[in-house]
Amino acid sequence: MRHDHLLSAGQLTREDIEAVLDRAADLADDPGAVGERHADRLLALCFFEPSTRTKMSFDTAMKRIGGDTVDMGSVESSSVKKGESLADTVRVIEGYADGIVLRHPSEGAAKLASQFVDVPVINAGDGAGQHPSQTLLDLYTMRERAGLDDLTVGIMGDLKYGRTVHSLASALTNFDARMHFISPESLRLPRGVRFDLHDAGARLREHTDLDEVLEELDVLYVTRIQRERFPDENEYQQVAGEYQIDADTLERARDDLTVMHPLPRVDEIAPDVDATDHAAYFAQAHNGVPVRMALLDGLLGEDAATDGGDAR
Ligand code: CP
Repeated sequence: MRHDHLLSAGQLTREDIEAVLDRAADLADDPGAVGERHADRLLALCFFEPSTRTKMSFDTAMKRIGGDTVDMGSVESSSVKKGESLADTVRVIEGYADGIVLRHPSEGAAKLASQFVDVPVINAGDGAGQHPSQTLLDLYTMRERAGLDDLTVGIMGDLKYGRTVHSLASALTNFDARMHFISPESLRLPRGVRFDLHDAGARLREHTDLDEVLEELDVLYVTRIQRERFPDENEYQQVAGEYQIDADTLERARDDLTVMHPLPRVDEIAPDVDATDHAAYFAQAHNGVPVRMALLDGLLGEDAATDGGDAR
């Protein structure tokens, strides 16, 4: 992949995506294939927001390709608590590591960080903005289950604040997928995201009712209504608990429907879906390791900083 940083899914071409997914498939089969190439490399994990999957799978991936990680730890235990700026924080950390994985509550934080350092920055979620490495593992999972061509994908839940949604929808324009966005009126895709999708030629429709499209879908990507992103608790309470699915809901779906979720889930997918053939969300989370191994192998490769690619 010809980029110094991974900041948004919009910077990824179809060729970029397929190269990472192909490499991830190879590494899933043969995790030792990278050899010792990253034996002296350190990856900094800078998480200003909670994470289980993204943080642990980057940690695992870096170690599986022979490198190691250094962890900033929690915001409470770091000098961020003393008022240190993000720019100063990453300028210091680039002296300790060969790459930075950054999760931050502010949209645009990873892009800002990338402007202050010379090591690759991977956006591991910037507020309601983007989460591009999640998108790569989502696409890997879709490709395994349904292929990536001629897909009809439903994306349901918190489309307003959902960074996984914004990244995935952007990436799916590379594959000419038909996209159906299902949400309450108050959680529709932001205008700017819709505009960018239309600009990229996306085939999209918006719905408030899953029943309008369920039978057409190859993939249903469910997201959590993210309480922590709502400026007003009352606004959250008005939509909390909407857009839940269970095994009965899926009786009306195609037998080969794949149900995905970036996780964590709260109550939007009932546990009785877990045992059905539709459920792909735990495999999806596990796919984070080979996909992030492939991503790191590319971004931290010896030529990554000098091959002319520059996403800054
Ligand atoms: N999917 C995802 O980003 O999960 P975490 O918040 O646990 O990293």
